[in-house]
Amino acid sequence: MTEPDLSLAIGSMTMRNPVGVASGTFGFGQEYEPLINLDRLGAIYTKAVTLAPREGNPPPRLFETPQGLLNSIGLANPGVAAFVQEKLPFLKARSCAIVVNIAGSTEDEYCRVTGAIEENAGPGHNGVDAYEVNISCPNVSHGGMAFGTDPVQVERLVGKLRKLTARPIIVKLSPNVTDIASIAKAAEQGGADALTCINTVVGMAIDTERLQPCLARGTGGLSGPAIRPIGVACTWKAARAVRIPIIGCGGISTADDAIQYLLAGASAIQVGTALFADPAAPMNILEGIIVWMKRKNVGTLAEIPKLLKG
Ligand code: FUM
Repeated sequence: MTEPDLSLAIGSMTMRNPVGVASGTFGFGQEYEPLINLDRLGAIYTKAVTLAPREGNPPPRLFETPQGLLNSIGLANPGVAAFVQEKLPFLKARSCAIVVNIAGSTEDEYCRVTGAIEENAGPGHNGVDAYEVNISCPNVSHGGMAFGTDPVQVERLVGKLRKLTARPIIVKLSPNVTDIASIAKAAEQGGADALTCINTVVGMAIDTERLQPCLARGTGGLSGPAIRPIGVACTWKAARAVRIPIIGCGGISTADDAIQYLLAGASAIQVGTALFADPAAPMNILEGIIVWMKRKNVGTLAEIPKLLKG
């Protein structure tokens, strides 16, 4: 069989392959440059950028569990001005798609972050191909997941951002909701071009000797293999509720994991926690997807969800 076509488009953004690296696990890319060829990635989804710099939550803010990782980073980042000055030039020089994750405590903050990036990036690639709107961080007291659990707020926020940019808007959904389909529909209604399914699942671990939570903030967001079935189910439900593409995320560390998301209805995927153990995981996953597509005689990514039976 000829080589499968791995490319895809989300609005004006094209990706040469569906394998990206998840926000919050890859910084702004620089630290990984000595380890992997960044230009072979489908996309880099940056750490969240907020209006002002954020130190994040007090330590400990990471705790490993048997099948995953609890984090309570608290959206630590240098703020939008430093992002534009210090990170954007590096991202501009990349040939893979760059998706900038944005966050805020208020709607106005999301809008001001987007406005500042638009002003500095200008039209075209320029280091920003799309935005991933983070309405699902479980580790902050204001904003974050609070936005992503209310369909009315989701539609209104996305609608406001839609007016500020012609770049694709990808909304990153929280699994910590009763009905993810209603949130997915609200994002689509507001003008989103795609959805990311899913951010982390709220979790907690307790140290039974010290008699205190393992994370300073108490709860955190669980990622890694433990949440993959939740992510696949959310992707499957969201894909049946909306017409826009879904980017699958949550517990992907092998090609088989990624293919489960693609079969559930995802057009692309993100690798996150697996990077900490193996920075080359995205490349191995990509190779495995190609081998599977050839074995199944699949020529394009769009054909994959149609193969799912039942
Ligand atoms: O705590 C954090 O910075 C996590 C962010 C997220 O899950 O989006």
